[in-house]
Amino acid sequence: MAKRVNFDFGPDDDEVRPCTTGRILWRRGAALPPPRRPPAAILAADPEQHARGSRDEMIIGIMMPTFDLRHKVNTMTLSDRILMGPGPCNPYPEAVAALGRPMLGHLDPEFIELLDETNERLRTVFGTANALTFPVSGTGSAGMEAAVVNFVGPGDVVVVGVNGVFGGRLADVVRRTGAEAITVDHDWGQPVDPQRMLDAHPAPAMYAMVHAETSTGVRSDVATLGAHKGDALLMVDCVTSLGGVELRVDDWNVDIAYSGTQKCLGVAPGLAPLTVSERARERIRATPQSWYLDLNMIAGYVNGSGARAYHHTAPISMIMSRHAGLGAVLDEGLSDVRARHQAAGDAVKAGMQKLGFELFAADGHRLAPLSSISIPDGRLGSTTEADVRTQLLRDYGIEIGGGLGPVAGKVWRIGTMGHTARTRNVTTLLAALGEILG
Ligand SMILES: Cc1ncc(COP(=O)(O)O)c(C=O)c1O
Repeated sequence: MAKRVNFDFGPDDDEVRPCTTGRILWRRGAALPPPRRPPAAILAADPEQHARGSRDEMIIGIMMPTFDLRHKVNTMTLSDRILMGPGPCNPYPEAVAALGRPMLGHLDPEFIELLDETNERLRTVFGTANALTFPVSGTGSAGMEAAVVNFVGPGDVVVVGVNGVFGGRLADVVRRTGAEAITVDHDWGQPVDPQRMLDAHPAPAMYAMVHAETSTGVRSDVATLGAHKGDALLMVDCVTSLGGVELRVDDWNVDIAYSGTQKCLGVAPGLAPLTVSERARERIRATPQSWYLDLNMIAGYVNGSGARAYHHTAPISMIMSRHAGLGAVLDEGLSDVRARHQAAGDAVKAGMQKLGFELFAADGHRLAPLSSISIPDGRLGSTTEADVRTQLLRDYGIEIGGGLGPVAGKVWRIGTMGHTARTRNVTTLLAALGEILG
């Protein structure tokens, strides 16, 4: 017979059942006296489970409270996919495992140490010594907002390179601050032209561009703009490049760069690694438009030595996962990881051409982690491209992406990023496509 237990977030319930998810704590003041054994029901189901902890707080085992939600959760079936779209990718196993680590408080010295190490690992992949380097809470778009609202506002001019969806989004974010966005528009599939950016305005506050345009599979030259930017800040979206292709923030004179976690860095979506040069730091606005993304305040928590000031609760588990994912990347070696992305991307491009498809992105500017594939008229017979993607997902468990904006229905976007960036996944995809297309 199980003992009667009051759980922190569970019911007052005799039917304690073990489960593989959900950590239940006993706290001082709850009905259970401080035993050194968990409830009998737990022991009976899994004799290896045992209580541990202090007299004030004890982890009683890994189990799920018995309220209705459990049933809904347990009846939902989720599939295992090979994620070869534009992101998210399959995360590294180390990053997945880290999500289940015991929770720590955001001011716990152990967590601060882990955060500091995460930031140091991010400096390595960004190629920077910037002190202000940390994962912004939120996805890549939060990184984009942070990179804009802290530096520009009404009266400022920002030159934005637009060669796809994400350059367009950057211009939108800039305009919402009240700054003027001068867009330098390029044909989709072409890289951003540094000279046209430089010619667009004599003295902008900022140049903004996307290093790896995920909507078109194009990589643009950052270094040339960095070499000639003058007094302006250079801000670069590295969401699809960080960890997968060469990126040298300091050598290329980039002032602000941001990324995401769900692409070449191989972690679930939820954080936006950001780095800010000392030069840019001096220009952070006193009261940026966004309170949540205010770098003046956030720096007091993510940076420096000694006591850290609370700003918002850090996404602890995601940062633990980010830390572990970066560990996997650095253990393998950054250049080897990039070479693995290159090999997988090359295999996609070669294999798709053999199947009768064409490459969309301009030659010499094709991204390794994201291959944009043109679908020639008639190649799919009576099937639509959306049907092919549906079949891939339903019958083979493989996700690829469709085109966006003007290339919707005409292009596929095939990602080989993070843990997915392996030629064996490409072989599986090409075989599946071969079967579907006959
Ligand atoms: C180049 C680029 N920038 C920004 C974003 C926005 O990131 P998120 O969707 O994580 O907010 C994406 C997402 O795919 C992207 O590819």
